[in-house]
This record gives sequence, structure tokens and C-alpha cells, in this order.
Amino acid sequence: MSTQYTIVTGAGGSIGKAITQALVERGEHVIMACRNLDKDRPLCQEINSRYPGSVVIMELNLASFDSIATFASAIQEQYPIKALINNAGVMNKHYSTTKQGYEMTIGVNFLGTYLLTRLLTPMLKNGHITFTTSLTRYIGKVDKNFFDLTANNYGRFKAYSRSKLATTLLAHYLSQQLAPMGIHVNAADPGIVNTGMIHMDAWFDPIADALFRPFISTPQQGAISALSANMSNLSGEIFEKQRHHTIPKRLHTHPHTQWLIEQAELITAPWRKL
Ligand SMILES: NC(=O)c1ccc[n+]([C@@H]2O[C@H](COP(=O)([O-])OP(=O)(O)OC[C@H]3O[C@@H](n4cnc5c(N)ncnc54)[C@H](OP(=O)(O)O)[C@@H]3O)[C@@H](O)[C@H]2O)c1
Repeated sequence: MSTQYTIVTGAGGSIGKAITQALVERGEHVIMACRNLDKDRPLCQEINSRYPGSVVIMELNLASFDSIATFASAIQEQYPIKALINNAGVMNKHYSTTKQGYEMTIGVNFLGTYLLTRLLTPMLKNGHITFTTSLTRYIGKVDKNFFDLTANNYGRFKAYSRSKLATTLLAHYLSQQLAPMGIHVNAADPGIVNTGMIHMDAWFDPIADALFRPFISTPQQGAISALSANMSNLSGEIFEKQRHHTIPKRLHTHPHTQWLIEQAELITAPWRKL
């Protein structure tokens, strides 16, 4: 049988790197989907020097639908895949937009991840899809203003928590839709992990670092959630390290899931025809 790859988005980030290394140590083959090849190529080379032929690096910018479509076509032509770990994510202090003009957090964490998953799903028969969620989903809001963040009403937690609730709703929706194809869809919550993402760019960072960082998870511990989800034969679960529970019932009946999926379908439609 030909080699089957697991795609890890944001594989050069803190948790992404830990996921990639753990997969390779288990004998798996990984496609590192990275937006900055110059930054992450040394990691790819270093892993391959220890585990020859185990990783491939490819360019993927989730803030550009063109880049996502190009990436998916290249995968279709070159690499059989068995799993997609949607690990990449942003939580930016300042407002910015994707190539197509969507607020960056919603654009990368939800829309870009949606399009990537949608394009790769037909190649994933009997495979696994993992979405990365966060505790902030509890304070997130998904309603008909979901895509309307502007420079004037932007807040990093507001945008981030919305994107993570939307991603969790998407995980539940796809776990139902893709069950007939034998695809297992789950969410992974890494907990609070000592990475650059939780740096607040604020005066209290050094104090918070000294007080709290020693007690939060390492990237290796944070990676366990996605690794567990990626091995599971369950669907519709949230993995928190080795433990897991079903995505809560109140999210199964969220009043805006259908609307959210319809919008994502409409927005990404031109890039699904390429
Ligand atoms: N740290 C935590 O406490 C925590 C808690 C809950 C959930 N999470 C989630 O865990 C995941 C990994 O986060 P992390 O803590 O490891 O942060 P990180 O070190 O900042 O890693 C984020 C990764 O996402 C990539 N990325 C960002 N924008 C991208 C884009 N437009 N296209 C492609 N890739 C892009 C980054 O690429 P570059 O390396 O090029 O910047 C990086 O590899 C995220 O989904 C995050 O929301 C983290």
C-alpha cells in the first residue's frame, strides 16, 4: 500500500511542532502545512535527518483562499492522505484582514480552515479530521453578525472566541455529515499551553509569565489532545488530553449552525470550483 500522510496545519508553531514530532516518532508520515517555508524548512530538515523521508513541507496560507486551493490541488496530485489536523490558528492584538477581506481571526481559524477541510474531505475516505478548539468557545458568540467584525468593534478575545465556537459547531456538523463516508471528525482542546499565542503584549506579561507559565501545559502536553482525537474511532467528541466528552447537546441545536455553514459555503464557493 502506498504511503498515506497526515496533514498538520501550522506544523511549525509550538503545538503543531509537538504534534508533528509525536506522529513521526510513531512511524507516521506528515505533511507540514506552513505559511512561512523559510522559517519552518529547518524543522522539516531536522526531523528528516532523524527519521528519513518522514516529513514533507508545503506552503499553505489560510489567510488566502487562493493558497488553500493551490495546496489542496497539489495534495490531490501528489499525496494520498489519511488525516487532517487543523491546528493552525491566530489570536491577534490588532485588527487585520485576509486576502479576501475577512477579519483575520475569523478568516484563518474558521473560513480558511473550512475551505481546506471542504477541499480535502473527498480525499479522506475512512480518515480523521481534527479541529482545534479552545476554552474560549464558552464565551464565544455565533449569530448573524459573525462575519461583521471591523477595525472599530474588534477585540482579540471577541474574535478568537467566536472563531473557536464556530469551529466547534463545524466539528459537530461534519461529524454527522461525514459519518456515512467513515470519516471521524472531532475537536481537540489543548488546554492552556505555554506558547507565544498566550502572550498578551501587555505590561503585565513578565509578571504573568513568572507566576503562571510554570503551571500551564507544555506544547507536548497540549499536543496530546489532537493526537488522541486523530487516533479515535469516535466522532463528535472534544478531546482534552487523553479524556474526551461528547460535544455538548446545547451546541447540537445551536440556532445559527445551519446559517454559518451556508455562509461558509457561499463565501468559499468560487475556490471550490478551481
Ligand atoms: N496556546 C494555547 O494556550 C492554546 C489554547 C487553546 C487552543 N490553542 C490553539 O492551538 C493551536 C496552535 O496554537 P499555538 O499555541 O501552538 O500557537 P502558535 O505557536 O502561534 O502556532 C500557531 C500556528 O498557526 C500558524 N498560522 C497562523 N496563521 C496562519 C495562516 N494564515 N496560514 C497558515 N498557518 C498559520 C502559525 O504559523 P507561523 O509559525 O508562520 O506564525 C503557527 O504555526 C491554535 O489553533 C490555537 O488557537 C492554543
